[in-house]
Amino acid sequence: MTASYKEPLIQVRGLEKVFRIKGGMLEKKQNLRAVRGVSFDIMPQETFGLVGESGCGKSTTGRLILQLLRPTGGEVLMEGKNLASMKGRALKEQRAKMQMVFQDPYASFDPRQNIYSAVSEPMVIYGLAKTKRERREKVAQLLADVGLNPDAMEKCPHEFSGGQRQRIGIARALALHPQFMVLDEPVSALDVSIQAQVINLLLEMKSQYGLTYLFISHDLSVIKYICDRVAVMYLGEIIEMADKETLFAQPLHPYSQALLAAAPKIGEQRTGEVLTGEVPSPIRPPKGCAFHPRCPHARECCKQVPPVQKLPDGRLIACWLYA
Ligand SMILES: Nc1ncnc2c1ncn2[C@@H]1O[C@H](COP(=O)(O)OP(=O)(O)OP(=O)(O)O)[C@@H](O)[C@H]1O
Ligand SMILES: [Mg+2]
Repeated sequence: MTASYKEPLIQVRGLEKVFRIKGGMLEKKQNLRAVRGVSFDIMPQETFGLVGESGCGKSTTGRLILQLLRPTGGEVLMEGKNLASMKGRALKEQRAKMQMVFQDPYASFDPRQNIYSAVSEPMVIYGLAKTKRERREKVAQLLADVGLNPDAMEKCPHEFSGGQRQRIGIARALALHPQFMVLDEPVSALDVSIQAQVINLLLEMKSQYGLTYLFISHDLSVIKYICDRVAVMYLGEIIEMADKETLFAQPLHPYSQALLAAAPKIGEQRTGEVLTGEVPSPIRPPKGCAFHPRCPHARECCKQVPPVQKLPDGRLIACWLYA
């Protein structure tokens, strides 16, 4: 059953992830706060983007939503159901509706497995196509959907180019007819010329299968092309969230402004401040607004946590400049 109109498919509420890591001179365990109070909704058939510098918690957020990692706080609901409270068969069925596509398709395949077994594996686990013949037909269809010849089935991952392997990764993610996919930097490892082809394939699959996407990328041009709404993350927190058009026309958080200003644009002058300084450690995130030590507009009040404001244009922003 799909969610009724205007009900979010995915609801993320105050999500937290603390990793216990060994570090420091005394090898004492420390808390690394990878995701800190992240909340957002994803509407059915929406493409929701997560963007931010390396290490800001994008992949961890994606894994928490798919229950590949256990949250240390907060909750994730799909179709209104709290995933953490699900067990056994119900959880297994729910999991089939959520899939992930990774950055490096090569790393997610067993090199000795042929494409038929890689793509049909989820069907075997879930008993989706009962006979081998049915599975072969299904795999051939999936491969055709992602633009590959059915004889690809007999080959091994190393016989394909990066772009083709990512197509196979997408075919495997589609095998169980999911409703929701987390795409974690799905084109970042590909040549620029191939990136556009894979992005367009993702858009085609989205309309063909009625999918909802969480699209993770540090590449703003890709985010701008594919996403409907975008959340900007910094040190484990969302600092600004808006419709794609609103955000790209006028980013308001100084971090969003710096991130957008730093992105290369063809035939345009760079505008705005460019990021300086290092990203602080998530083991000891700065107090108050986590961006304030790098922010050109920082004031005394920025040492306090800024409230999350909803602006008239619908965007959410956590910054004292707008409070
Ligand atoms: N399993 C883990 N154990 C300990 N720390 C982790 C683990 N996974 C991630 N981290 C840490 O959590 C923080 C967030 O990592 P995450 O991979 O979510 O960032 P990211 O935004 O996806 O970065 P990138 O753009 O480089 O992929 C980082 O500081 C990272 O080192
Ligand atoms: Mg990542």
